[in-house]
Amino acid sequence: MALLEVNEITKVFGGLTAVDKVSFKVEPGEIVSIIGPNGAGKTTIFNMLTGVYKVDNGSINFDGKAIHNTSPQHIVHAGIARTFQNIRLFPNMRVIENVMIGNHINTKYGFLDEVFRTPRFRKGERECAQKAIDILESLDLGDQIDNYAKNLPYGMQRKVEIARAIATNAKLIILDEPAAGMNPQESEELMEFIRSLRDKGHTILLIEHDMNLVMQISDRIYVIEYGKKIAEGLPAEVAHNPRVITAYLGSGGISKDEE
Ligand SMILES: Nc1ncnc2c1ncn2[C@@H]1O[C@H](COP(=O)(O)OP(=O)(O)O)[C@@H](O)[C@H]1O
Ligand SMILES: [Mg+2]
Repeated sequence: MALLEVNEITKVFGGLTAVDKVSFKVEPGEIVSIIGPNGAGKTTIFNMLTGVYKVDNGSINFDGKAIHNTSPQHIVHAGIARTFQNIRLFPNMRVIENVMIGNHINTKYGFLDEVFRTPRFRKGERECAQKAIDILESLDLGDQIDNYAKNLPYGMQRKVEIARAIATNAKLIILDEPAAGMNPQESEELMEFIRSLRDKGHTILLIEHDMNLVMQISDRIYVIEYGKKIAEGLPAEVAHNPRVITAYLGSGGISKDEE
């Protein structure tokens, strides 16, 4: 059984069908990308997956359970972590503290433990900090641990945000246009970083409008246009699909080196 199974999800805004019976799957250990021109319905899909929007029709199964029309909190606890298109780190906190926040959803102590700084709280905090250090080191971000988030370059902030998503013990990480606002070199580094996550066993669903960016790292790609799935397959298959090429011509096309 696939880790994520999306069956014919549909979302209507007023008279506009933003997402129309879209189906796709993500298997454990894959990088799967959903691509499409601006306005195709990518963020709407993302919002249904993360529980921000209800689905009007269809179903979303994660890890064998239906998660559509539950809450964002439920979905995080079920094991799906996300990053935001606009980075949401706490600027005046250090990198380690930002990552510990991800980890906190798994801690056992309650509010009173925290207020009274009980031994359970202090032990929990130590473990939480150690886990954050382990994650940052495993992602080659160990030298950033003590830096304040606000002092990091943009590309590095994004990596820390992804590290925080990993700290939730998520089984699936969904990224909505993570390279938005990055220069070509930062985008390239981020794609390398995402590939390294997959090589460590993480499962990634990448939502992106720039097809060239995901070409090199995706195991499989789904293409949507005007809310409908128009193609799916291996990157090379998708890149040569006439419908996909036509869909992308209006938004810059596919660069020559993909031909
Ligand atoms: N909350 C909303 N209310 C009304 N229309 C929306 C809303 N969100 C998105 N849309 C419309 O749905 C379509 C898909 O948008 P979106 O999912 O943001 O596309 P993408 O992320 O692929 O650029 C667009 O036509 C957009 O204007
Ligand atoms: Mg979008």
